[in-house]
Amino acid sequence: MLISDLDTPTLLIDLDVMEGNIHRLADYCQEHGLQQRPHTKTHKVPAIAHRQIRAGAVGISVAKVGEAEVMAAAGIEDIYIAYPVIGDLKQERLARVAAQTSVAVSVDSEEGLDALAGTAQREGCEFRIRVEMNSGFNRSGVPTPEAAVDLAKRAATSPGLKFEGIMVFPGHVWRNRERWIDVAKEEGELVMRTLDLMKQAGLDVAVASGGSTPTAFISHEVAGINEIRAGTYVFYDRSTAALGVSDYDQCAATVLVTVVSAPEPGRVIVDAGSKTFSSDRIAGGTAAGLGLDGHGRIREHPEATVGWMSEEHGMLDVGNSSHRFRVGERLTVIPNHICPVVNLFDRMVGVRGDRVEVIWPILGRGKLQ
Ligand SMILES: Cc1ncc(COP(=O)(O)O)c(C=O)c1O
Repeated sequence: MLISDLDTPTLLIDLDVMEGNIHRLADYCQEHGLQQRPHTKTHKVPAIAHRQIRAGAVGISVAKVGEAEVMAAAGIEDIYIAYPVIGDLKQERLARVAAQTSVAVSVDSEEGLDALAGTAQREGCEFRIRVEMNSGFNRSGVPTPEAAVDLAKRAATSPGLKFEGIMVFPGHVWRNRERWIDVAKEEGELVMRTLDLMKQAGLDVAVASGGSTPTAFISHEVAGINEIRAGTYVFYDRSTAALGVSDYDQCAATVLVTVVSAPEPGRVIVDAGSKTFSSDRIAGGTAAGLGLDGHGRIREHPEATVGWMSEEHGMLDVGNSSHRFRVGERLTVIPNHICPVVNLFDRMVGVRGDRVEVIWPILGRGKLQ
């Protein structure tokens, strides 16, 4: 089957590009003695997780118990839920996952920790515990090294739990492209202070997990970190290219669309709108500064973008293009933010050149619980 045989909109994955992305980061991690645990929220496909593991990853990260269930059922053997798992229903499901595979969980509250300990004892399983710390993104995570030590001690003495280490997520690097190195240094200082205090408290810290796609290749500069969880790197997207984290040729995922209407000059409409691309802007709100408005870049005509959208219509901004777009013409779009786009599709189509090699159901899509 050829790409030209596919209906639109279709999510295409260029397998050569994806494999290049996977191996480049795996090689970097190996070179710097870092363990890699990719966040699979980007692709949500067990077959891709297996490829990342074959390339050297020690396991995977997920955000949701539902994603963990899908990955465990597909034979992934070491899963980290990098998110607080709160509520009996979720914790009981997670215990069933832990009966199949080794499970680590983020914790940033005594309530969450104690409940996990109770669940583990009731269900006869073990959860590995990573204390989440806020390193400046101001999302979840305990605020200080002292608070991390308190929680770690509690984890270390709770039956059913095994204290494994700490976790930070430098999501604010997406907003601070000039400050990546500073953010990495600040994070390293926080991690080192915490590791020192934990050592003094007699705690054994096996893992200090960090890393995002923008900072992936400077992870060795973050003192104390020995694991990274970059996820977007597997496909990259218009945001990573706009921020200089990747180039556009490294964007493995595109959406194949058809021009369905071109009623007058300057008005070109494709068959994909916000239900395909999501409404995400270029990450970090830096679009205006970079002159990168819109919802995606047209690969064949980079001067054109998806300018605005309704649910099923994508209105191209073709003001800078001399190309005459015709009804029936097929284009590929590099989305602003690939992760929510993947979540909107049932399957992705892996291609090499113009040939279809594999069709993967996106088994982890829509697993919001
Ligand atoms: C906790 C956590 N770890 C890792 C990642 C992966 O980061 P990136 O999207 O920069 O690859 C994310 C992304 O949302 C995350 O929330």
